[in-house]
Amino acid sequence: MDRYRDNPAALRALVRETEVHRDVYIDPEVFDLEMRHLFAETWVYVGHASQLPEPGDYLAATVGYQPLLVVRHSDGSIHVLYNRCPHKGTRITTEPCGNTGKFFRCPYHAWSFRTNGKLLSIPLKKGYEHTGLEEAEAVEGLRPVANVHVYRDFVFVKLNEGGQSFEAFFGESLSSIDNMIDRSPEGRLVIEGAPLRYLHGCNWKMLVENQTDTCHPMVAHESSAGTAVSVWEREQVEGAKRPMAVEVYSPFMSSYEFFEGMGIRVWPNGHGHTGVATSIHADYSAVPGYMEQMTASYGEERARRILDENRHNTVYFPNIMVKGPVQTLRVFIPLAADKTLVESWTFRLVGAPDMLFERTLMYNRLINAPTSIVGHDDLEMYERAQEGLRADANPWVNLQRLYQPGERHDVTEVINGTSERQMRNQFHAWVSFIGSSMERQPAGA
Ligand code: FES
Ligand SMILES: [Fe+2]
Repeated sequence: MDRYRDNPAALRALVRETEVHRDVYIDPEVFDLEMRHLFAETWVYVGHASQLPEPGDYLAATVGYQPLLVVRHSDGSIHVLYNRCPHKGTRITTEPCGNTGKFFRCPYHAWSFRTNGKLLSIPLKKGYEHTGLEEAEAVEGLRPVANVHVYRDFVFVKLNEGGQSFEAFFGESLSSIDNMIDRSPEGRLVIEGAPLRYLHGCNWKMLVENQTDTCHPMVAHESSAGTAVSVWEREQVEGAKRPMAVEVYSPFMSSYEFFEGMGIRVWPNGHGHTGVATSIHADYSAVPGYMEQMTASYGEERARRILDENRHNTVYFPNIMVKGPVQTLRVFIPLAADKTLVESWTFRLVGAPDMLFERTLMYNRLINAPTSIVGHDDLEMYERAQEGLRADANPWVNLQRLYQPGERHDVTEVINGTSERQMRNQFHAWVSFIGSSMERQPAGA
């Protein structure tokens, strides 16, 4: 039954001021609309330039249902192409990443393409003489994505032609990416190590919401982080320095008051971050030599301003989270209404002491890995929610905490750190972008 497919009004009715209908998490038809419209209408992260250091380097990405190739061309530019041969549709590459040399060669009939997508050659070309091939779309080669923007090495695409520009979509929220990069004395990040990949049996939006959910750590993580903290308190030797691991997980047990005071900043278009005044990353030990390097690069005042930012989780709508003070990026990749692949990537701050990268890796393992002591608590909650939402009880999910009538979603504001407003902000953006794409490309388009 098509309840939502050709019916933007029905889709819009799923999101109220303070509630969302369970179908946003469990209905396969809504999931299909997200894939076709939300991920086409928004700017979506597809990779980092440091993953493509050499000409011919490529990586695979999927945006909505679309298989893409992100590739470094011989002139150094980055191109994003549909991973589909223009001859008979064969997928050109199947590896997650690699180097293709000077060209891509289709494995089916050996049509080949330059790394900017242009058709290079066709075997036995004389068979196409006088056939009008030069008029066919196929000779244009691998089709490029409509909009690509590389922002300080972060590569984003927007599949739809119309809609918002990159600058309008992200606005001031880019300050979180800036801060993560500026923490390098050379102003440069490189991805190092493979990402942690963790499959979740839940809807992808549960993970996005959780990034700014500050009322759960002291509850859901009590049995893991809480136990670890109490073991440390019981076993520590008088005057011993707190190990890095304890510094990482103990703030998860901070009080409601701490999280209230931490603050949340909301931006238009569903972006926002926790950790305005302070955050769970504010109390890490200083790394020897780092401040001196930063001062030499930026001057003392600017270096202090960069390092005093302790933003916790920045959500870039729709599906990534950046953690500047720890240099990680998480991507929430929807696979089905109830299946999500999470990738957690780690960055090295170029020119900074190794100890910072050690902390980045440790944080990722302790908090985000399938074997972590924290991440599986969250997974348990998401999967229970996915199950519970099947119950034919109240079909609405409540997001009312610290709601004020007349709340706006087109403004930047700093609010109480336990508010659910950022979740409301995300759903407002969700329904606006899907709705506007559906209305521009009506039924069957
Ligand atoms: S399908 Fe690619 S060359 Fe024929
Ligand atoms: Fe959590």
